[in-house]
Amino acid sequence: MTPALTPAQVAAGKRVWMTTFGCQMNLLDAELVAGDLARRGYVRVEAMDEADVVLLQTCSVREHAEDKVWSLLGRARLLKQQRPGLLVGVLGCMAQRAKDLIVRRAPHVDLVLGTSSFRTVVDDLQDLAERGGRILRTERTPPPERLPDADRDVGARPDPFRAFVTVMRGCDHVCAYCIVPFTRGRETSRPLPEVVDEVRRLAGDGVREVTFLGQNINTYGKDLGEGGLPALLEQSATVPGIERLRFLTSNPFDMTEDMMRRMGAVPQVMPWLHIPAQSGHDDVLRRMKRTYTVAQYEEVVGWARRHVPGVEITSDFIVGFPGETEQEFAATEALVERIGFLQSYVFKYSVRPRTLAARRLPDDVPEEAKRERNTRLLDAQDRTAARRQASLVGQRVEILVEGPSKTEPSRVTGRDRYNRLVHAEGDAARLAGRLVGVEVHESSAHCLVGRVVEGSAR
Ligand code: 5AD
Ligand code: SF4
Repeated sequence: MTPALTPAQVAAGKRVWMTTFGCQMNLLDAELVAGDLARRGYVRVEAMDEADVVLLQTCSVREHAEDKVWSLLGRARLLKQQRPGLLVGVLGCMAQRAKDLIVRRAPHVDLVLGTSSFRTVVDDLQDLAERGGRILRTERTPPPERLPDADRDVGARPDPFRAFVTVMRGCDHVCAYCIVPFTRGRETSRPLPEVVDEVRRLAGDGVREVTFLGQNINTYGKDLGEGGLPALLEQSATVPGIERLRFLTSNPFDMTEDMMRRMGAVPQVMPWLHIPAQSGHDDVLRRMKRTYTVAQYEEVVGWARRHVPGVEITSDFIVGFPGETEQEFAATEALVERIGFLQSYVFKYSVRPRTLAARRLPDDVPEEAKRERNTRLLDAQDRTAARRQASLVGQRVEILVEGPSKTEPSRVTGRDRYNRLVHAEGDAARLAGRLVGVEVHESSAHCLVGRVVEGSAR
């Protein structure tokens, strides 16, 4: 429900309707924007029709994500015909990639802010309300001191005990399918002391678990010449109150055995890694320009398993990449079984403008085959995960209690150390924010169910 608004807020034109697409980093960018808006007296409303300002935090990773934005922009155009004072802003990856197209196809858009330029949003809205016109800002790779992450309102996060922290932006690889180098530019890291200070401020505000974000997080710090990811983890682990650290996304090409060794040596770093494989066949990986082989991928997983006991691995896969044969796809299915991922996200290949694949490789796998492979790979993943999860019935796991389960208020929900989703009988009011032990009674591919066992957190 939209909170009650004061007449002054209504008169000031500060009702905002905002929606977000895309990855975790984009969600966090939206959180930074929401914090800035709240600080300056803007109020979120739940229906676009009630808003004075419409903001779309966009994603470009697949065409479908952009289609949804075009459709919302269509709705906003109709609304603006009735209320010409409405301000419409497009933020994030699509703003960065398609600024000119947006202005041409949707001339009612007043504000376009790219992936590093969105922290001016409040001042820009004020300028637009006072002076009209249109504001476009899309600097793609700003120097570290102009990254949009500093000065975060730590109180604006949605989850009281867990927080995400962006530590680097952009990606220096050029995977053939991927739009990210075009939307988020080159790798730029935040200075380590600034990140650790943010962790300290979050911990002071009740956060127990921090997840560091970067498109290619294993190269964190390389551009600054300071300590990399291991140093970031080691220093953050010393912050009082921080019990758990995670990080994503890891790519096989920048992971080293030493990094895994140092990860395994910090007790606060949780035994979980997201390492997208994308395909289980060398020829597809070569066409994707992933620069590793399946054997090298498995070697990296081997390092992780050697140095981080019990580590769980999750992955991303693209099915129907140009030229993917049935036999190549079968190799991906086999990899899922062989590695035993805890979870995999599976995507049907979507042509993205300007990428190497869009320019050189025909999108020749029929939609029907993409759909079928998508289902088959998810089935393989579910079978694998269900088997792994079943082996936990009767065991104890440790969870950080996030709050009551959405569907059953007598249960609490949390994640265990390996990032497995757990529901357990227990009193959320008393346990929220605590690490507790759970005895597992049931399992499925996607979650564990059990009972909180007091005093057995470790
Ligand atoms: N088509 C389909 N999936 C894609 N991904 C990235 N680009 C594309 C694309 N063009 C997937 C990859 C990546 C995840 C975030 O999105 O699997 O790891
Ligand atoms: Fe989407 Fe990629 Fe941008 Fe995230 S970085 S919002 S996944 S295009």
